[in-house]
Amino acid sequence: MSSIWLDSCEIGERECLRGDIEVDTAVIGAGMAGILTAHALQNCGRQVAVLEASRIASGQTRNTTAKITIQHGLIYHKLLSRFGKQTAADYAEVNQCAIDEYRRIIERENIDCDFEEKCSYIYSQNSESLKKERRAALELKLPAEFVRDIPVNIPCCGAIKFKNQAQFNPMKFIRAVSEHLTIYENTAVRAVKGSVLITNRGNVRAKNIVFACHYPFVNFPGLYFARMHQERSYVIALEYAKPVDGMIMGDEIGTYSVRNYGKLLLFGGEGHRTGENTDGGCYERLRAKASELFPGSREVAHWSAQDCITADGVPYIGRYSSGKPNWYVASGFGKWGMTCSMVSAMILRDMICGVKNKYAYMFTPSRFSAKDVPQIAFESGHAVKGLTRQIFSVPSEAVSAIKPGHGGVVSLRGRKSGVYKDESGKIHAVDIRCPHLGCQLEWNPDELSWDCPCHGSRFDFNGNLLDNPAQNNLNHKK
Ligand code: FES
Repeated sequence: MSSIWLDSCEIGERECLRGDIEVDTAVIGAGMAGILTAHALQNCGRQVAVLEASRIASGQTRNTTAKITIQHGLIYHKLLSRFGKQTAADYAEVNQCAIDEYRRIIERENIDCDFEEKCSYIYSQNSESLKKERRAALELKLPAEFVRDIPVNIPCCGAIKFKNQAQFNPMKFIRAVSEHLTIYENTAVRAVKGSVLITNRGNVRAKNIVFACHYPFVNFPGLYFARMHQERSYVIALEYAKPVDGMIMGDEIGTYSVRNYGKLLLFGGEGHRTGENTDGGCYERLRAKASELFPGSREVAHWSAQDCITADGVPYIGRYSSGKPNWYVASGFGKWGMTCSMVSAMILRDMICGVKNKYAYMFTPSRFSAKDVPQIAFESGHAVKGLTRQIFSVPSEAVSAIKPGHGGVVSLRGRKSGVYKDESGKIHAVDIRCPHLGCQLEWNPDELSWDCPCHGSRFDFNGNLLDNPAQNNLNHKK
């Protein structure tokens, strides 16, 4: 179960860190945000080392649908009403700068990464939302228009269309930009103490530290776990599907994402909050919809992605916390990881180099207002629910009740355990408590994984960590 990007290009392996080093800037995470930040800083003459727990682009960068766009859902009427005209206009402008910067790097460094300009469409079943977005786009003078029809046969009330957006192959791009960077693979940062990063391979002393590791894993300070959650979505790649001209996404839950890559069509959807797929069937429903929309097509790959969603829908880019002036963070990109990675690289480069960035203010992670309270309360409520399940719910099944190929929470010698019974009947039992902050994990039957409903950490059925903020594997049960 791997994405088409992974098969389209190989990235050479890098050495792990061996012993202690000292650098100007250490970047945690070799995904798109980390690599672009390191690339931007190195171009300004900074000495940078990237520390990656696994391989380059082994996280969400390989699972994206790789759209580069200023159209982040029907966001502009929300930004206008929440933050005002200047901030909404600046949000569009900085994301346009990100598209332009991709284009500049690709031309300057002569990168073959299948970069193509495309129109972007956000469709909706809600005509009121479309009307509001159209008015906002007009007020902000964005290159957008309302269209009644979209280039794929999905019923809707219309869409907002943006011209001159882009799509590409993220693995080909990241392979090229990472080529001349110092990157230590298989080097997991276990803790950060002041200016020292403690890894499983040695310590790194750095004047500046950038957390570009998808979900910031240091809980205090920052409290990112209280103001961000994670969502999963699923993608299938189809051959013999009628091509679509453009990048199409729906605005509501239950809608779909469509783009072409060469002769393949990438069809995504079935999104849900991480830890809330206990009934499964996401891929099956997506396949059923694909055969309705693209008759005669054939699936060649399928994979899933995980996104961090902030309380107000705007990424967190900037100082990690006021008490840690040399720590920086880039997270909460929603479904717009490629564009926001470039935005964060430009902002963090300027902050670290002491250059004023006119867009940094709107992304500052320290922003907080009374308007955030309901969303933050919702995040906390989810965490409390996950924690109380650990304490109060009663184990419902015995190991013998679990069928081969299925998983569930059972009582093993009087204690709750997560059990997966493989097709041969072998039992894989793990501790069901999330090592991040102790919530009870839920079984995800589509991906044979244990997923945390609180902040989105994930583990395979053997307990190996798949997605942070947790940093450790689950304990095995004998
Ligand atoms: Fe925070 Fe599981 S991810 S408790």
